[in-house]
Amino acid sequence: MTFAPVWRCPTVPLSNGLQIPILGLGTSHDGGYSHDAIMYALTECGMRHIDTAKRYGCEEKLGKAIKESGLPRSDLWLTNKLWPADYGYNAAKKACLDSCSRMGVQYFDLYLMHWPESLRPGGSNREMRAETWRALEELNEEGVCRAIGVSNFLVHHLEQLKEDCSIMPHVNQVEYHPFQQPSGLIEYCRQEGIVFEGYSPLAKGQILRNPIVCQIAEKHQRTPAQICIRWCIQNGVVTIPKSTKKNRIHENCQVFDFQLEQADMDAIGNLHDGRHVSWDPTNVE
Ligand SMILES: NC(=O)c1ccc[n+]([C@@H]2O[C@H](COP(=O)([O-])OP(=O)(O)OC[C@H]3O[C@@H](n4cnc5c(N)ncnc54)[C@H](OP(=O)(O)O)[C@@H]3O)[C@@H](O)[C@H]2O)c1
Repeated sequence: MTFAPVWRCPTVPLSNGLQIPILGLGTSHDGGYSHDAIMYALTECGMRHIDTAKRYGCEEKLGKAIKESGLPRSDLWLTNKLWPADYGYNAAKKACLDSCSRMGVQYFDLYLMHWPESLRPGGSNREMRAETWRALEELNEEGVCRAIGVSNFLVHHLEQLKEDCSIMPHVNQVEYHPFQQPSGLIEYCRQEGIVFEGYSPLAKGQILRNPIVCQIAEKHQRTPAQICIRWCIQNGVVTIPKSTKKNRIHENCQVFDFQLEQADMDAIGNLHDGRHVSWDPTNVE
């Protein structure tokens, strides 16, 4: 397989004019953290977009890797997330600045409310989301968060926020892979100018043995992971596969030198069965 760096990775425009790279590297507390793998992604693969969260517990380690890479901050797209235990106006502002300082950066490119339910006592979820969002809007105006968004928000959460806020979220990051295609939510986001970003593109590995995906992989002489990542990209969905292994990170980046045919896209599109491999926000009011 030929090696192609992703520094010319296509981008997706946000409603505020920023451009988010369509492929990023996920990080998480699930399955560990590898300094070598992150360094490899940044310095050998040309990965410039990293997704993390306070919840994942690796902000300091990531900050160290970013510093060690020697890459200028302006070359990177860093997404971080606010954990619901930090919701509320003051707590949200403090949590964001604390996250910046743990990662050794002055700003985030994108800062997301991680989950629609508040874990802090106070008002209703709706009231807490609105109050928290006000803090994010200010962080955005101050330049601490160049773009702001939400994660795991469904249409009813977004509709409420629309009534309660002044800036609509720039991004909604939601579970998205062939088994989980929330088409109504995707359509709503497109209509409202919210970029749809998908997490768990490999369904945490569950999709990799699917016979349809394996057949398409064989036809294109690619791996099932590359097929799933490519499928997200061809659907215009920002995607953030996670791996702690150098060879898999390399593999997951080699997705810009081939194309799935419409029949492949449709066959994968038919695999939706509604399962969640992460969490399901359906019952959050
Ligand atoms: N906003 C949210 O609520 C939320 C929720 C979940 C995830 N996320 C974000 O999305 C990112 C990705 O999601 P995810 O980690 O849940 O799932 P994922 O990316 O679908 O799958 C990750 C799993 O697949 C394995 N893997 C990666 N590349 C592979 C390859 N080429 N071949 C075979 N196996 C491979 C990884 O193992 P190894 O590490 O051992 O390679 C890991 O077990 C996370 O890191 C996080 O940044 C956000």
